[in-house]
Amino acid sequence: MAFPREFMDELLSRSDIVSVVSRYVSLSKRGAGYLGLCPFHNEKTPSFSVSSDKQFFHCFGCGVGGDVISFVQRIENLEFADAVTKLAEWAGLEVPQSSFGHEERDKRKRALEASRAAARFFHEALKGEDGERARKYLLGRGLSPATITRFGLGYSPEGWSNLLDELVRQGYTKAELLAAGLVTTGKTGNIYDRFRDRAMFPIIDARGSVIGFGGRIMGEGEPKYLNSPESAVFNKRKNLYALNLAKSSKAEFFILAEGYMDVIALHQAGFDSAVASLGTSLTDEQAHLMSKYKNRVVIAYDSDGAGRAATERAIDILKRAGLDVRVIVMSGAKDPDEYIKKFGPDKYRNLIEGALPAAEYRLAASKQSFDLSDDKQRVLYIKAAVSQLAKLENAVEREVYAGRIAKETNVSRDAILDEAARERKRILREREREEKRKILDPVGALMPKERGARYKNARSAVAEEAIISLTASDLILAKSAGEKLSGKIFSSELLGRVFDIIYNRARNEELETDMSVIAERLSEDEVSHIATVFARNGNLSRDALSDYIETVLREHMRYEAENDDAAILAAAEFYRKKKGQKNG
Ligand code: CTP
Ligand code: MN
Repeated sequence: MAFPREFMDELLSRSDIVSVVSRYVSLSKRGAGYLGLCPFHNEKTPSFSVSSDKQFFHCFGCGVGGDVISFVQRIENLEFADAVTKLAEWAGLEVPQSSFGHEERDKRKRALEASRAAARFFHEALKGEDGERARKYLLGRGLSPATITRFGLGYSPEGWSNLLDELVRQGYTKAELLAAGLVTTGKTGNIYDRFRDRAMFPIIDARGSVIGFGGRIMGEGEPKYLNSPESAVFNKRKNLYALNLAKSSKAEFFILAEGYMDVIALHQAGFDSAVASLGTSLTDEQAHLMSKYKNRVVIAYDSDGAGRAATERAIDILKRAGLDVRVIVMSGAKDPDEYIKKFGPDKYRNLIEGALPAAEYRLAASKQSFDLSDDKQRVLYIKAAVSQLAKLENAVEREVYAGRIAKETNVSRDAILDEAARERKRILREREREEKRKILDPVGALMPKERGARYKNARSAVAEEAIISLTASDLILAKSAGEKLSGKIFSSELLGRVFDIIYNRARNEELETDMSVIAERLSEDEVSHIATVFARNGNLSRDALSDYIETVLREHMRYEAENDDAAILAAAEFYRKKKGQKNG
């Protein structure tokens, strides 16, 4: 617990989840709770539910869920302490200064300061005597001195402790440098510079803090890029390279490239809205982050097979975040950096202007893999194209592309639209079935995603889910359930733990249990799972509690008995084998 208990209690009692969520999502009352369009994925029918009763949110569509703090963390892309600070502001509370939370923030602040000092050191080193080779390398790759300064590029000198010595001299402790990922611990516990003899690319977040580095080797060798490790300050999934510059570009769209060098080359050529992910493939968090600044993203990945595959993935991720997606189709060069060097910025501007809407790009991509003069292949192409048409949400778009496919293949537009309509009905039916399954059939929907949360006894788990859902917000039910069973006999360890929390609060403190209490004691994935549980068990009857309790007790006894049998059988098998060995 990073903040004092009393402060958190006060904060949570003043931060009603319905009013906090309403700052971002328009909610309407539905049964016992509220419903709206999910802000974390793109949807047209609302599946985002908020419960004022248990103070949680949950989306039936994308599965996210949690309490009021995790909502703010997710939607604003904030660390826990920062989300608390924001809520405190809204609630008119002062964040206690002497708290442990303050200390945590201080640590973070020191790590960020150390990273900034390191960036300065690398940049100075690039300008100095030792930096000559790196200077030649960067200039040789076509970067101007102005670009080098703008991106704060640098050089990490050869040797094991250049940065370490300098930052210790500036007053940073080894622990602080480790926390910033600037130094590494060797096998014997010795500490040395992580980055040695590399061209350095500082990674700066949207607020302008240096949070990490990518270091490029200047010749052949592995790894080509060495990146800062994940840490309290550096989260690869939640940040984008050059976002600090690109977010204030006048362009209405981001250009999403694969590499640091592509981004820098694009900016230098005047395309100052280019960003890239950080050595991992694009994440939902990064797409969400982009959607806060602009509505459109133009994908400018490499032209090779890997780049095309990454484009396919990125389209889905960006669309999920509600972004308008275009794709640049480029030939004659492997990446934007090379293209601009070969053909110049004007040609690249044409490519950006001619970027295809995602649907059109996909059609074009599948067309390339068929020979349309061959009847059989033509039919296959029509099938592939129709299935893509059917996925388009917009009827006008479907008509336009159907017309185009008709021309290409010499088949009537109506025939193509008919096929697409049939396929679309099938998709919609399937989607509906899936939704129903998720909401109505708790057994079928038992979180296949998270291994830790998977139930070993579904029948008992259904009853256990019902029990925690009924008892969390009802003291009398909680106490009466606790007299008959304990979390230990639950088939699901997680649900058992939650039940114990609920019962202990009810018994000792006469308090109900809402999501913020649960969120304090469980991991992020577990909280998300419990939000799902509460959401799908929203309308249970109090009268059914005794049936659920009975089910849990009965299943527990059956389990014990079966396991006894299993133990006896195992023992018998063991002795039989042993005897066999003696005799043989
Ligand atoms: N990357 C990485 N670690 C590696 C290789 C690549 O983190 N060992 C990441 C970097 O963010 C890099 C991106 O993947 O920028 C794309 O890789 P690549 O195309 O190989 O690098 P470029 O940026 O094109 O660099 P260069 O032009 O110098 O080859
Ligand atoms: Mn590249």
